This record gives sequence, structure tokens and C-alpha cells, in this order.
Amino acid sequence: MAHKIILDTDPGIDDAMAIFFAFQSPDIEVLGLTTVFGNVPVTMSAQNALTLCELAGQDIPVTKGVGMPWVGPESGYAHFVHGEDGFGNIDFPPSKRELDPRSSAQYIVDMARKHPGEITLVAIGPLGNLALALRLEPELPDLVKGVVIMGGAAFVKGNVTPVAEANIWNDAHAAEIVFAASWDLKMFGLDVTNDVPFTLDFLDELEAKNPKFGGFVKKSSQFYVDFYSQDRDDRVCFFHDAMPLAYLVDPSLFEFTRGHARVSTDPLNRGQTTVAPEGSTASPLWLEAQQIDAATKVDHERLRKLYVDTYSY
Ligand code: BDR
Ligand code: CA
Repeated sequence: MAHKIILDTDPGIDDAMAIFFAFQSPDIEVLGLTTVFGNVPVTMSAQNALTLCELAGQDIPVTKGVGMPWVGPESGYAHFVHGEDGFGNIDFPPSKRELDPRSSAQYIVDMARKHPGEITLVAIGPLGNLALALRLEPELPDLVKGVVIMGGAAFVKGNVTPVAEANIWNDAHAAEIVFAASWDLKMFGLDVTNDVPFTLDFLDELEAKNPKFGGFVKKSSQFYVDFYSQDRDDRVCFFHDAMPLAYLVDPSLFEFTRGHARVSTDPLNRGQTTVAPEGSTASPLWLEAQQIDAATKVDHERLRKLYVDTYSY
């Protein structure tokens, strides 16, 4: 049976690529898109999610969620990575569809209560909506099947600071709440997502297989490729956000390290995700932390094939 998911997102170019992958996959049923600030302000995130749904002919709820971090001032945004519009400045016509009136957190809680034990939360932006949903419904961990996220850097360096990845750094206090909850959490961080550069022929192939979705991804990725290719000799980009979705379709693509996990909130190490593998420490401070599974290895060739095959349907 297809995985019922709620996709929490901040579109974003790799978010768009991941959302189309989810829509295309026969193994995934997207119940709704919940949006959050991150790559762009939350109003733009929500508008972009509506636009992607309209392009895809998907009449599903889209909600607007938290617009600021749990603690501290409004963040800066990643327009330098994703463009002024979040889609690489392609001037794509915005949808005129309406948002679902609920907040993202309320929608998550409502759906979890409606389908107890059936929904996987897939979070590919900062974790404010999930943290707020945990505050609204403390039983949430028992009401959902599990949580898979793109975020963090367990055993590799960060992409915003030496220790922090963008989604976690953007809302470290929210991430701390989400990592401490008693649910089955699988993290797809830079350990795996930065390990798979996609070259331009991948974008050509996606477009050839699926002119509508692949064409959008290729066009919007030109700006994204410019960003990622600044300090390299080749032209590449990284589709971070599709990895937790690829995992749902084919878990055998990944290897994991299980361990007690913590998110730092102190200013210097803000957003650092540290994983103490099982048996590696006797410190009570670490043993009391929830255990998560951090993806540490991915099969590049089979992952690429899964993306292309899924876009071909
Ligand atoms: C993450 O940050 C955002 O720029 C991407 O959409 C992805 O979710 C990668 O660090
Ligand atoms: Ca994202």
C-alpha cells in the first residue's frame, strides 16, 4: 500500500524536485503540503506550494505555517541559492488557488487524529511546524507512523556553519523539540545528500522523460547549479530534499547509524546535530537522548535511476 504522507516544505528548487517525485511515485500518497519559512518567507513558500500543485493538477490542501524561528528574530532567507522567487528567477506564473485556512501545525494534528498510525511526516524544511504540532497534540508521536527529514549533518561538516546544516540551523530550538520526541525519526542529512552531485545530463534526462515536471526542474535549476558550481570545475547541483522520499520508496538504497541524538542551541554551535552511536558512550546526558537513525550511506546509481524512472511514469 502507498505511504500516506504530509510533506512539510519551503519551496525551494530541490523542494520542487522532491514534491514532483512524491506526486509521481505510485508508492506515495501525498495528503497535503504544509509550508514553513526557510529558503523563502513563509508567504512565498505557501504560494509556491500552491503553484506546484496547480502545475501538477493536484487538488490537495496546502497550508501556511510558522514564519519565524521558535526563538530569536526572523531569519535571513536563501534567495542566493534559490532565487528571489524560490524557483531560480524563472518568472513562473503564480497560482490563484486558495490556501487551506488552517495553520500547518493544526493540519498535521487534524490529519494524524483522522488517520491514527498511518501517516508519515516528511519534513524538508526547518522544523517549526512539527514542533508546534507536538505542542498542540503531545500524543502526536503515537498518532503518526514515523518522521523522515532532510536536515542535519551527523558526521560531516555543515553548509551554513562548520557544524550546522541549513534546515536545522534555521530553527534549532524547534529541531531540538522534534529530535527529543518519542517517534521513529530518520534523518537524511548532508552525510548522504552532499554525497550525490547531480550533473547537467541528469537534468536533461528528467526533462526528456517528463517535459512538464522535469522541464520545470531543469529550468529552475540553472540558478541553483550556478550557486553549487562556484568553487568547482564541473557544473552540478544537489537534490537534498528528495532523499527521505526515495527512502520511503526503496529503503534498501540507504545505510544508517543508530544513536542518541542532540541538537545544539548555543550560539556558536547552533543547529549542530550530534549522533552518539549505540554503545559509544556511557554518559547519562547522552543516554537519555532519544535515538534516531541517521543515514550515512546511499547507493548513488540506484538513487539516480529511481528518480529518472519515477519521473518517467
Ligand atoms: C536544505 O536547505 C534548503 O536550501 C534545501 O531546500 C534543503 O532542504 C539543504 O541544506
Ligand atoms: Ca527544503
